[in-house]
Amino acid sequence: MRRFFAYCLALTVLVIPFSSSAQSGRTPAVGRNGMVVSSHYLASEAGKEALRKGGNAIDAAVATALALAVTLPSAGNIGGGGFLVYYGADGKTTTFNFREKAPLAATSTMYLDANGAIRNNSNHEGPLSVGVPGTVAGLWMAHQRMGSLPWADLVQPAIDLAEKGFPSTWDMQGYLQEVQGLTQPMYAATKKAFLKEGKDLYAPGELWKQPDLAETLKRIQKEGRDGFYKGKTAKLLADYMKKYGGIITEEDLARYEAVEQAPVKGTYRGYEIVSMAPPSSGGIALIEMLNILEGYDLKAIGHNSALYLHLLTEAMRRAFADRAEHIGDPAFVSNMPVDRLTSKPYAKTLRNGIDLFKASPSDSATFNAAVHVYESDETTHFSVVDAKGNAVSLTYTLEYGYGSSLVVEGGGFLLNNEMGDFNPVPGVTNRSGQIGTPPNLVAPGKRMLSSMTPTIVAKEGKPVLVIGSPGGRTIINTVLQVVLNVIDHEMNIGEAVEAGRIHHQWLPDITTMEALLISPDTRQLYEMMGHPLRVRGRQGSAMGIFIDRKKGLIYGAADSRAFDGGASGY
Ligand code: DON
Repeated sequence: MRRFFAYCLALTVLVIPFSSSAQSGRTPAVGRNGMVVSSHYLASEAGKEALRKGGNAIDAAVATALALAVTLPSAGNIGGGGFLVYYGADGKTTTFNFREKAPLAATSTMYLDANGAIRNNSNHEGPLSVGVPGTVAGLWMAHQRMGSLPWADLVQPAIDLAEKGFPSTWDMQGYLQEVQGLTQPMYAATKKAFLKEGKDLYAPGELWKQPDLAETLKRIQKEGRDGFYKGKTAKLLADYMKKYGGIITEEDLARYEAVEQAPVKGTYRGYEIVSMAPPSSGGIALIEMLNILEGYDLKAIGHNSALYLHLLTEAMRRAFADRAEHIGDPAFVSNMPVDRLTSKPYAKTLRNGIDLFKASPSDSATFNAAVHVYESDETTHFSVVDAKGNAVSLTYTLEYGYGSSLVVEGGGFLLNNEMGDFNPVPGVTNRSGQIGTPPNLVAPGKRMLSSMTPTIVAKEGKPVLVIGSPGGRTIINTVLQVVLNVIDHEMNIGEAVEAGRIHHQWLPDITTMEALLISPDTRQLYEMMGHPLRVRGRQGSAMGIFIDRKKGLIYGAADSRAFDGGASGY
């Protein structure tokens, strides 16, 4: 009998080929050959199909990103920007920086009125909030340098989804109602794209088609990068800007370039951490926090115990203070102390300042800066592993959910409002959340500071964990906690992304925590150490892959905090 069971097990594991395996909450999807995990199941399928056809992780990332631009309009995009981190099975690491840039006509005071106050929220709303998009240039550059399948084949699934349509989701319903309420002429194309006949809601499940977006994607398919940054698409975008008082020109678009650059690297308990360098603050802050926490036996202290949360909070407070003080676009800020911030001796100094029983103050006089208050929950991350074991970790964003809500007339795609990530009021930094420190002031052609933290963790030169999340500044802390969940607490990737999490960002001095994370007595212990605490809604939505080399299996987990996420393996 026992032999019979062993035979059945062997059959399941060895003989029955994995097609795609469904995932539910803490139970990850499993694959042998490849895996794509994203915030929309149809985009994960598009990426998986690229892998099935023999494509590599970069090919699958291009297909997934472009499909998300159709199926996840809240964050998937061609009108925004982001970062791609790569770790090859051969040990090669690199990143692609396709963060948006300030237009050439931008100035550090462009959002201020005569009294020095921000004019009509113009850094977050309307045409001036739009940065020069980077996504198509970034995907194109990564594909040119490292892709293997034809570009046109990778764009096709997105075209099909836009042209033939796909079921509108529950996730979009709230936004569609908002769109109905948009009355200004600059939102006419938004209404056309998102509403039936420009006025009625698509019901969840109803087929939603995006013909203008399909045409733009066809130009990108045919002409690559130039299909977006030159010719008809560029003209449509520049004309639209001009018509409504924006400043992005055809020259801005023609001159936009993505950058291939080195990642930031660190180590944690024998694992290698590879993440995004500036203009993202994510990688530096993540490594700084891991270095601090390496000095404690977190496993023995216990997952989400009061002491554990205290130590995490203290590490977060310190890393976010450094973030506010030092980090900006490396093309403009020459004196960033990246090596120091990510070094073990520096972490030791910071650790020595942590009291095991008492919260330290967050003091803007000492730390020299404050941070903005706004937290949006709309960016998107996806993770890819291919048959050879190459990994891609990609986070991109429109900044707010649905970005600026501005859709280019005739182009059918949403534009970001990423200019809001710059410090808008030079020199004004205060506890209420204004930040005016120099590294992140607006300048023509400059990239705004980001918190996106696409990360790959490796062991002995091979990727084992691919992870990232949306969530504004909470991103860095979400990624931190998933990494700790896997390495210290030995959770599977499903458990690691599902577990509740906290966030502290130095200023304002408050910890936010997902509901029901800890028991009332644990909460009391934590608060008694001097930590103000507030319960919040969901924090981010992590999309992760774990590779078990001994078993030869790839596990994928799409965080259930995302409405329509999907892990597709085979
Ligand atoms: O780059 C950044 O840090 C932000 N623009 C990301 C915005 C974000 O994550 C919003 N939602 N999840």
